[in-house]
Amino acid sequence: EQIRKGNFEHFMEKEIHEQPDSLTMTMRGQLIRGGEQKAKGILLGGLKDHLKTMRRSRRILFIGCGTSYHAALAARPVVEELSGIPVTMEIASDLLDRQGPIYREDTAIFVSQSGETADTLQALEYAKSNGALCVGITNTVGSAIARGTHCGIHLNAGCEIGVASTKAYTSQIAVIVMLALLDKDMKELAALLMDEQSLLVFGRGYNYATALECALKVKEVSLMHAEGIVAGEMKHGPLALVDETLPIIVIATRDASLNKQQSVIQQLKARKGRLIVMCTEGDAEFMCPDGTCRFIEVPKVQDCLQPIINIVPLQLLAYHLTVFRGFNVDQPRNLAKCVTTQ
Ligand code: AGP
Repeated sequence: EQIRKGNFEHFMEKEIHEQPDSLTMTMRGQLIRGGEQKAKGILLGGLKDHLKTMRRSRRILFIGCGTSYHAALAARPVVEELSGIPVTMEIASDLLDRQGPIYREDTAIFVSQSGETADTLQALEYAKSNGALCVGITNTVGSAIARGTHCGIHLNAGCEIGVASTKAYTSQIAVIVMLALLDKDMKELAALLMDEQSLLVFGRGYNYATALECALKVKEVSLMHAEGIVAGEMKHGPLALVDETLPIIVIATRDASLNKQQSVIQQLKARKGRLIVMCTEGDAEFMCPDGTCRFIEVPKVQDCLQPIINIVPLQLLAYHLTVFRGFNVDQPRNLAKCVTTQ
């Protein structure tokens, strides 16, 4: 087992660091090569016989659980913007509980790292029986979801062993960005937060999913309570929790939401909130001139790609918190890599 972990102590840590490679592998298979091997377009060969039907869909539904659901949520704005087709998000179990409406004119896209998750698989059967075009995005060739869908895309992110899904998340969002890892800073931050009971994470727009995914990672492996919150909801309840002790991460990297996030920071500071602001490199002083906040600075990329950059230091935070708190990183309590029961 140690050989497979290489120089890393845990699979989760290894898989976080593998992301530049796993993302490259994900992208490589999907590009059309022009002269000098330069990419001149996107192929998505697995979809070619169904693209016309997809483009004519009345609606696209993304269906998944946990991290896979978050990856789809992160990608939703760009899909909506580029396709002009309304996009609906469905947590697989919730869709099944409600027996939510699905029509022949819908394209249902099932996102699953393992391709074997029972809720997602059952939602696939349900969508198929309602006549929707079913597309799979999985990381496992030959999995039940890969076999059961009409067409699909293989992530090719490489085998993911740690129960906490990490590299699959960024490959699921499926874009190319090289990462500036912030490991030392995140270890220091984790040391500071290791004895806390709870953590709030505020995000919005492209980084709403990042806030949810950060909170899920922290809960799942470090067993610390964490809550991801869409920042627009802050005044509708969560603000009551704010005091000088509760740590709060505010994701405020540069994009169309920046002004609103600055105002969130002001309101939290006015209540003496204990803030950790994730901001674009060079913005720290301008975000908090009085020096009362801690910062996680990340490089600026295209808005729709920023969630890929932003989640990496937060994954590392979850990882280091877990190690400091003495819990099992790769086999978190009560969890399995693939949930095959409902
Ligand atoms: C995330 O770290 C979890 N292990 C969990 O939420 C997972 O993403 C979920 O069970 C879905 O799994 P899948 O992608 O294999 O379908």
